[in-house]
Amino acid sequence: MNKMDRIAVLTSGGDSPGMNAAIRAVARTCMFNDKECIGVMRGYEGLIEGDFVPLDRKAIGGIMHRGGTVLKTARSERFKTPEGRELALEQMRKAGIDGLVVIGGDGSFHGAKALHDLGFPTVGIPGTIDNDITGTDETIGFDTAVNTALEAIRKLRDTASSHERLFIVEVMGRNAGFLALEVAVASGAEYVVVPELPLSIGQLCKQLKASYAEHRSHTLIILAEGVMSAAQMCEKLQDTGGYDPRVTVLGYIQRGGSPTSFDIVLSTRMGAFATEGLLIGKSGVMVGNINHKLVFSDLERAWSEHKSLSPELLSLITKMN
Ligand code: F6P
Repeated sequence: MNKMDRIAVLTSGGDSPGMNAAIRAVARTCMFNDKECIGVMRGYEGLIEGDFVPLDRKAIGGIMHRGGTVLKTARSERFKTPEGRELALEQMRKAGIDGLVVIGGDGSFHGAKALHDLGFPTVGIPGTIDNDITGTDETIGFDTAVNTALEAIRKLRDTASSHERLFIVEVMGRNAGFLALEVAVASGAEYVVVPELPLSIGQLCKQLKASYAEHRSHTLIILAEGVMSAAQMCEKLQDTGGYDPRVTVLGYIQRGGSPTSFDIVLSTRMGAFATEGLLIGKSGVMVGNINHKLVFSDLERAWSEHKSLSPELLSLITKMN
């Protein structure tokens, strides 16, 4: 097994609440095991440039409740090239780094897999508000993003109900509907529109008409950004049966804020598990939380295997309408 005296950690791709708690957990687990922890600034860009900081007790003090990532994040084009990867390996060799924890989404895991294939011990932690990673039930930041969206939608409901309006609320999620579906169930939305399911605008208009005729004071549609924009959808809904439609894009507020207790606990568990994994020789794997139990699975599963929306949650939208 490789020597594992100095472990580095980086965050990459879109930030998500809980990343700081995961960074802290990696650093604390290193300390507990008498190992050194190094933070890599700006994801793979910082790895190529050798932008490293020591993560001692002081550096990680008070970060666990903060949103964003103290290590900053970036999407690196250079790291996608063999030259960029060689430079990154060279920087790690020079700094005496023996293993790496990568916190991010599937794009970040492609990079982690490449390092593993080049013989460098690397373990991934899934961090994205999209929850679109196979191999884990939840990703770090998903729960906080759902709660942030819910808080905003509760406010929208108040005004929607006063004015008898239809609200189309666009949420993030990239090409997946996990965030939209969870938010829709949590907010009691009447409809959810996700990339995973076909959409019939004609059918939706019919349902809206029926709902208006039943004197429902307002209606809420949660729209996943991967389908179309809320403005485009509003244009397509020619006949809403009487409702006055309005559009809200929740946007980047979904990525910020202090993590929920769920995300802090998940991040802390995953940070410790990933670090302990490296210490016992794991590489090329990511940590997942499956049925409340932490497990390792191959990194490429994250993007090569399809993750399905929960049929139970989908059926609840119809049953509760
Ligand atoms: O992957 C997280 C995410 O917030 C997606 O939901 C969204 O589509 C994307 O990142 C936005 O990326 P960027 O920060 O590059 O605009």
